Amino acid sequence: VSEGLGARRKAVFVLGQILRKRLTLEHAWDHSGAPLEPRDEGFARAIVQESLRRFGQLEALIRHCVPKSPPPHKAGATLEILIAATCELLFLNVAPHAAVDAANQLARDDAKSMHFKGLINAVLRRLSREGAELITQQDALRLNTPDWLWERWLAHYGEATTRAIAEAHLHPAPLDLSLKDNNDPCTDIEALQRLAPHALRVEASGRIEAIPGFAQGRWWIQDFAASLPARLFGDISDARVLDLCAAPGGKTAELAAQGARVTALDLSPARLERVRENLARLNLDAEIIAADIRDWKPSEPFPFVLLDAPCTATGTIRRHPDLALIKSPADIGICQSLQNELLDAAAEMVAPGGTLIYAVCSLEPEEGLWQIDDFLRRRSDFQRAPITRAEVGDPRLLSEDGDLRTLPCHWADKGGMDGFYAARLKRA
Ligand SMILES: C[S@@+](CC[C@H](N)C(=O)[O-])C[C@H]1O[C@@H](n2cnc3c(N)ncnc32)[C@H](O)[C@@H]1O
Repeated sequence: VSEGLGARRKAVFVLGQILRKRLTLEHAWDHSGAPLEPRDEGFARAIVQESLRRFGQLEALIRHCVPKSPPPHKAGATLEILIAATCELLFLNVAPHAAVDAANQLARDDAKSMHFKGLINAVLRRLSREGAELITQQDALRLNTPDWLWERWLAHYGEATTRAIAEAHLHPAPLDLSLKDNNDPCTDIEALQRLAPHALRVEASGRIEAIPGFAQGRWWIQDFAASLPARLFGDISDARVLDLCAAPGGKTAELAAQGARVTALDLSPARLERVRENLARLNLDAEIIAADIRDWKPSEPFPFVLLDAPCTATGTIRRHPDLALIKSPADIGICQSLQNELLDAAAEMVAPGGTLIYAVCSLEPEEGLWQIDDFLRRRSDFQRAPITRAEVGDPRLLSEDGDLRTLPCHWADKGGMDGFYAARLKRA
């Protein structure tokens, strides 16, 4: 029973922090105590991530057995113990006795959930017998997508695409490398595929540092879709480029690797430290500025400005399954008004004739298409410069207006990509 108990205890704690306090998975992990042995740490992560991906299904299965759930203030960690153990039983192929015994032990160790030990035991024993059959009757895609997200994606993308997005969310995202040198043959790296001259998809197992070329700074980690916005300026070799909202620096590196003279600005000094570290490893250079975009004024405007605005990040749920459960419709409104202010401030930093690229990793039109439509209504001195098929290689990644609109279900046969929106605007 004790085997893996520490991992399960950690998983239950982290799930509780996400579900009750709406902490992000990474934040919750940082507060979950000392790291365990790598194997246990990996097991705990697998439980948490799969529980989040399959949350709707797991909740429905438990509700099937216990229609009236015990009040959370009396039940302690009962719900998390049930979610995690059901996930082990039905989605992680853990032997029933191991999952059930460990859940009983965890319940016994907790002053509140110990009173629900009988219930936990009964539910898990029943699901270990009937669960596999019950799953076949579930609409997994619908159940695992929160109602508010399902409704908005249905309205904006239609049912087939919404289902395809939900399907993509069931699988972990692959690991993509952005290459510093497009001509790097990468023959020493075990690649699944070369997605573009600058992008390689690799097997996502083991330590990142062990992938050849890490110490030499030949690549950095960045989803393929995230690498695209900074590649839409055309030739920026030796040009001055302003990278707004730059940290942790994926796009800063993308710009510097194309030969630009980059000024990277971000509000967060701590996150800018990561930009510095990343650039140092890659042997790339940028001027780094800690400031709020809304207060900062450049000494002269820039011919190229990239604004990678903070957003709800609903395009990255494959990587961050916690987002589907901790975000709410109110977050869209909050992000939308901040993006609006940042766009107006960024526009002032663009030189006449210059280019502004606006990007977000959100699937929501309020943060993407509608944000830009609003901006163009306010600012008659800016016009859309549509992105062409030749620039992204696949017309499915473009909207009718010529904006970049990638979805998690795009290139599903290759492992998908994050959902990114980007618009390219020219100042008169
Ligand atoms: C989506 S992330 C940027 C990711 C980054 N461009 C990359 O490719 O690695 C958004 C960033 O916006 C920054 N930010 C949020 N509000 C800001 C503001 N008012 N001024 C400057 N930076 C801000 C945050 O600190 C955060 O690092």
